[in-house]
Amino acid sequence: MTTPLISPSFLSADFARLADAIQQVEAAGADWIHVDVMDGHFVPNLTVGPPMVEALRKVTALPLDVHLMMTNPDEFIPAFAKAGADILTVHVETCPHLHRTVQAIKEHKVKAGVSLNPATTATTLEHILGDVDLVLVMSVNPGFGGQKFIDGTLEKIRQIRTMITASKGSPYLEVDGGITVHNVGSVLKAGANVLVVGSAIFGSSNMPDTIRQLRTAGQTVIV
Ligand code: DX5
Ligand code: ZN
Repeated sequence: MTTPLISPSFLSADFARLADAIQQVEAAGADWIHVDVMDGHFVPNLTVGPPMVEALRKVTALPLDVHLMMTNPDEFIPAFAKAGADILTVHVETCPHLHRTVQAIKEHKVKAGVSLNPATTATTLEHILGDVDLVLVMSVNPGFGGQKFIDGTLEKIRQIRTMITASKGSPYLEVDGGITVHNVGSVLKAGANVLVVGSAIFGSSNMPDTIRQLRTAGQTVIV
C-alpha cells in the first residue's frame, strides 16, 4: 500500500487564527491544505471564496486543494485560479457540462478534480476519468466537519480504484469526511491515496503524531 498524502481541512481550524493553524499543521507534516468552499445552496453551509484562497496562499507553500461545494463553479474558476488554487475540485452533481468544466480548470494550469456525493454512483466517472487529475469521494454528506464516516462508501472507493487501475491515467483518489485514526486503515485498503481530515487533526492534542498515525495506518493493515 502506498503512503497517502494528508490534506487537513481548514474547516475545523480556528478561523480567527487561521494563519497560525495552517502553519501549525504544515509543521506537523501536512502535504496539502484542503479548503472547503460552500455556497449555502448546493450545501447547507457558507464558508469562504477566492479572497481566502489568496490570503492562505501567502501563509503556506503547501498545495491548496480547493473543494468547490457550489452550484455554479464555472463562474468562479478564473477567480480561484488567480487566487492561487493548485487543485480545483467540482462536484459531478453540479456540472451538467462536466467535460467543459474540467477543461476550463486545466486551461488555467490548475489540477482538475471531480467529486461524488455519497449517493452518487461511481459510473458517473466513466467518461471523464481519463481527463481528471483527482477523484474526490465524499464519505459524508458535504456541508459540515465532524460527521460520521458512511461505511457504504468503502465499496465505491474500491470500485473507483479498480476503474483507475484499468484506465490509462493515474488520478489521485482522495476521500473526504469522517476519517479518523480508527477507520483510516479501511479507507487506505479500499484504495485511497489522499486523505482529507478535519476534526481528527485540528481536534488532536498532538497533531504531528495524529498525522503520522494517519499516514502509516496502511502499513499495519492485515490484507
Ligand atoms: C465536508 C467537507 C470536509 C470536512 C472534513 O463537507 O468537505 O472536508 O470538513 O472534516 P472531518 O474530517 O471532520 O469530517
Ligand atoms: Zn472537503
